[in-house]
Amino acid sequence: MTSASVSAGTSLFTPVSLGDIELANRVVMAPLTRMRSGPSGVPGGLMIEHYRQRASLGLIVTEGVYSSHEAQAFVGQPGIVTDEQVAGWRRVAEAVHARGGRIVMQVVHAGRVTHPDVNGGRRVLAPSAIAVSGEGHTEKGKQSYPVPRALTVAEARTVLDDFVAASRRAIEAGLDGVEIHAANGYLLHEFLAPASNRRTDGYGGTPTNRARFVVEVVTAVAKAIGAGRVGLRISPERNIKDVLETDRGDVLATYGHLLDQLSPLGPAYLSVLHEELRGGLVQELRRRFGGKLMANSGSSSITSREEAAGLIEAAHADVVAVGRAALANPDLVERWQGEHAENEPRPALFYTSGAEGYTDYPSFHADRA
Ligand SMILES: Cc1cc2nc3c(=O)[nH]c(=O)nc-3n(C[C@H](O)[C@H](O)[C@H](O)COP(=O)(O)O)c2cc1C
Repeated sequence: MTSASVSAGTSLFTPVSLGDIELANRVVMAPLTRMRSGPSGVPGGLMIEHYRQRASLGLIVTEGVYSSHEAQAFVGQPGIVTDEQVAGWRRVAEAVHARGGRIVMQVVHAGRVTHPDVNGGRRVLAPSAIAVSGEGHTEKGKQSYPVPRALTVAEARTVLDDFVAASRRAIEAGLDGVEIHAANGYLLHEFLAPASNRRTDGYGGTPTNRARFVVEVVTAVAKAIGAGRVGLRISPERNIKDVLETDRGDVLATYGHLLDQLSPLGPAYLSVLHEELRGGLVQELRRRFGGKLMANSGSSSITSREEAAGLIEAAHADVVAVGRAALANPDLVERWQGEHAENEPRPALFYTSGAEGYTDYPSFHADRA
């Protein structure tokens, strides 16, 4: 089993290994959904260029990629289900690798955060039949989220098999690994929290039971592709999409159990999204996990160079996941290393289509040209 290896005073710009994956530096591109894959969910030329441009980050975590057609959360989201999707991702991986970069795929099941007008008229599934409030973007405009159907145990098994198959396909496509998405209110996160999981079977009730499905999914994926290529993302206490986690004792019991179970496998990393990264909860979860911590504060202000460098230098994390700054600066590592000015992200273009606000953020050297 790996142990947290970062020591005080370590620089953001030093190499590090996450399981089987060797990174040239500790600045990781956080998963960023951009909805630019069209109805086929196949990564095309623009997406390949977007990721290619960002290959100098120590590691790219792709946007959330659906693990089955039913699992799709957004219009224009890429998948890893069809042969065409695998071929598209192979081109992405080759482009990143050609520039010396590393890339893992974030694999996700939407759970209740989708609609039949997003996932091709298929079922909407969740641990319990409780709808998330609010509306989501669908092919027919904004619509309320439907009441999901509670998964049977047999259906949960199929979802698990889909995660495994998707992860195998990601490796087949040449990616360096996968990140299982158990954060931000989607299916796996819904299992963890009492507000979205009211089950009375072995997957609900106690913290141990609520953690069970995520343990099973990560264990099965690790068995299929090797634990050294598997990361896990969690966002305890984020209180997002009605997945409320307001009882610190329960959170610690649930996530502590989850990580106690996963620790002996030795997964590549644990990615934690939490406002208080230096605080007791995150550092306790890191201790229970015993491996490499990828940190992201996810606050309303974007991750800055100072915050990222401070986390590594103080040994509060092994690597830092950076979202909006990486979105707006393809050459973020060079800019941070040289303490150069940064492009500002343009949020109005986060979820649009085309090159604008996607592949047209200039690199620093282009600025000067
Ligand atoms: C446009 C956008 C898309 C995002 N998509 C995802 C996603 O697909 N999966 C995920 O786990 N987090 C997603 N996030 C959250 C980011 O990974 C990250 O946690 C957040 O941006 C906060 O970090 P930052 O301050 O460095 O931007 C997204 C955030 C943004 C702004």
